[in-house]
Amino acid sequence: MTRPRVLVTRAWPETVEAELARRFDVTLNPADAALAPERIRAALGEYDAILPTVTDRLGAEMFDRPGIRTRILANYGVGFAHIDTAAAAARGIAVTNTPDVLSDCTADLAMTLLLMAARRAGEGERELRAGEWTGWRPTHMIGTKVSGKTLGIIGFGRIGQAMAARAKGGFGMRVLVQNRSAVAPEVLETHGAGQVASIEALLPECDFVSLHCPGGAENRNLLDARRLALMRPGAILVNTARGEVVDEAALAAALHAGRLGGAGLDVYAGEPRVPDALLTAPNTVLLPHLGSATRETREAMGMRVIANLDDFFAGRPPHDRVA
Ligand code: DGY
Repeated sequence: MTRPRVLVTRAWPETVEAELARRFDVTLNPADAALAPERIRAALGEYDAILPTVTDRLGAEMFDRPGIRTRILANYGVGFAHIDTAAAAARGIAVTNTPDVLSDCTADLAMTLLLMAARRAGEGERELRAGEWTGWRPTHMIGTKVSGKTLGIIGFGRIGQAMAARAKGGFGMRVLVQNRSAVAPEVLETHGAGQVASIEALLPECDFVSLHCPGGAENRNLLDARRLALMRPGAILVNTARGEVVDEAALAAALHAGRLGGAGLDVYAGEPRVPDALLTAPNTVLLPHLGSATRETREAMGMRVIANLDDFFAGRPPHDRVA
């Protein structure tokens, strides 16, 4: 029996690549260079499955070609706004993602950013490494307390809930939630969280705001200048969701003006480009999209992709089908 032809667009953890090679006629990308759009478009005519990541844009124009062979896009990652799922579905292509397995590590990183921005950890480390630390003094590099403060979470899916568990359980924070749909009362109760009706109602209540909603066109500039102005003076924004959710120019302006107390960002609208205005913004911690970057999670994400492919090619509905 011929094995499905599978294209992996980036280098994956070795254990997962070995598992893929056992099951499929797989083409790997050991050089790990992002594939050009034309290459991916051509691959749609050559492979039964393509395994993209957030660095591969699969817009509607990609699917506008004759002779498509690909039947499934098994995305490595939970966010799939880089794939036009409607256009894929219109060509009979299934799309899957990798939820659950990255919730803990992404929430850990969101909490890392929150703590780093609150306690000026990036700034402190830079000062020490530059040889500029003159010793302990009562007024040196004063940050803001985290324990007992109010955290607003926008988007209360699995990662948002994992963030709430850390904030509430680890730091005794009050948690307020804004979510598109009503969150089940028992879920709110588990996290000791309260749901508010709108982002406008949430922002003025919070010392920290952490974004956990999907990206894509529907949430582009969800936090625009008007909404950023509703945040408490000195509040800190954390974004481990998608860069496009925040108007980066407006955020940078609020940080430079000292209106906001800081920001912790892991994602950017035009990755890997980071706007100069953010690079120079005060008390802003910037990480290179590391949310799910632990060995355990990256392997688990790969195994989740394999489970989806196994189901799909065996004629069963893949667990994580999103289109
Ligand atoms: C995710 O899983 O969505 C990560 O951000 C990588 O795409």
